[in-house]
Amino acid sequence: MGQKRVIDSKKHLQGSLRVPGDKSISHRAVMLGSIAEGESRIRGFLRGGDTLSTLSVFRQLGVEAEDRGEEIILHGRGISGLKEPTHVLNVGNSGTTIRLTMGILAGQPFYSVLDGDDSIARRPMRRVVDPLRRMGAEIYGRLGGERTPIAIQGRPLHSLHYTLPMASAQVKSALILAALTAEGESEIVEKVPTRDHTERMLRFFGGEIRTEPLSPANASSDEGQLHPFSTDSGFEEGGRRIYVPGGISLKGREITVPGDISSAAFFLVLGTIHPDAELLVEGVGVNPTRTGILDVLQTMGAKIEMKNRRVEGGEPVADLLVRSASLKGTSIGGAMIPRLIDEIPVLAVAATQAEGTTVIRDAEELKVKESDRITAMVTELKKLGAKIEATSDGMVIEGPTPLCGGEVEVYHDHRIAMSLAVAGSIAQGKEPVVIRDPEIAVISYPHFFDQLAGLGE
Ligand code: S3P
Repeated sequence: MGQKRVIDSKKHLQGSLRVPGDKSISHRAVMLGSIAEGESRIRGFLRGGDTLSTLSVFRQLGVEAEDRGEEIILHGRGISGLKEPTHVLNVGNSGTTIRLTMGILAGQPFYSVLDGDDSIARRPMRRVVDPLRRMGAEIYGRLGGERTPIAIQGRPLHSLHYTLPMASAQVKSALILAALTAEGESEIVEKVPTRDHTERMLRFFGGEIRTEPLSPANASSDEGQLHPFSTDSGFEEGGRRIYVPGGISLKGREITVPGDISSAAFFLVLGTIHPDAELLVEGVGVNPTRTGILDVLQTMGAKIEMKNRRVEGGEPVADLLVRSASLKGTSIGGAMIPRLIDEIPVLAVAATQAEGTTVIRDAEELKVKESDRITAMVTELKKLGAKIEATSDGMVIEGPTPLCGGEVEVYHDHRIAMSLAVAGSIAQGKEPVVIRDPEIAVISYPHFFDQLAGLGE
């Protein structure tokens, strides 16, 4: 802590780059590989703070993991082979680690305690604890189970029929994972679609999980949505019913993790709002539940081309070519929000350069991420000259506004740090943007600042 990073603004930005492996998929690969039978090999695993927390948690649960550089080899223990951990399981800064692991541990015949950093200590846990309790789980935490540390005395679980009260892939995934250890078939309903990596990967590992559209208007075949080797056919707005049979067994697999579109987003926005840029971001995951940022930037006028589309490990992948473009303001909300929830901070930076007003609504979930991302972006972008105001469920941004230099805070939040670095890369004037405590970027993107500094050299 206590470091500062000066952000250069460059005249030209040109080149190709690869972003680190997808964070959501890396977590799930370790988790499913751990509860599968036999060996799994994970290529392209994100070696970021969050996913290394998951790896260390599952090692403490008795899973042997060899780090061979190129790939991680996991020796899966099967769904009932995990062992009681000796110490508290430390999830660090990772909401995905704690929430999904709670789902796996609720039905294990042992006691475990999960804890994390100061940010984790402020994040809501009842959204997972309450439905797990309905399944018969015995879970304790501060504020009646709302806050960490979370203590779990594993119990046999019964099946669940549950409609998610908020759009959250973490809650959905925790319940799917708990349902695997439960007796009977569970049904989980999401009214608004969220990232479906758990469903895809479960199928990839040989698990039977069925999904069905909530409304007949979205009645494309189940196979088309989830089959590991299908290409995506675009995003479907309607919700889904997910059926998970209890006690299924998974088989170890080789899996290649695509580049993280949430990490690529920093360069897609930078390449768009920079006056002289052409960047190729190679090997990015383009699962339609995650590509909201592409759709919204394109609606705003961005020039982004998807090339070389393919399917790897059950997930669609492409190379993304972005060129400078003028943007116009837009309005987003509703089902779009979960498709770009983690990209809203950097989208706010793009909106400062767009002609007219950009309105982001229905995004109150941003307040309970690693930081309150509405307050963080509004406060810090204002320091750089942006016209941006917070609303109860999002923000309103007027543009275009030239951004100036200044020193900014990152709220111990990786995505705030990187979004402000993108703002700094197009700032004008004598003073540069200086980011305080930038090292938090390591949570999802260990070499971000070096890669950014290297572009256009
Ligand atoms: C994630 C789901 C999202 C996202 C987070 C990763 C996941 O959180 O913001 O970065 O891997 O399932 P919520 O489910 O809380 O919306």
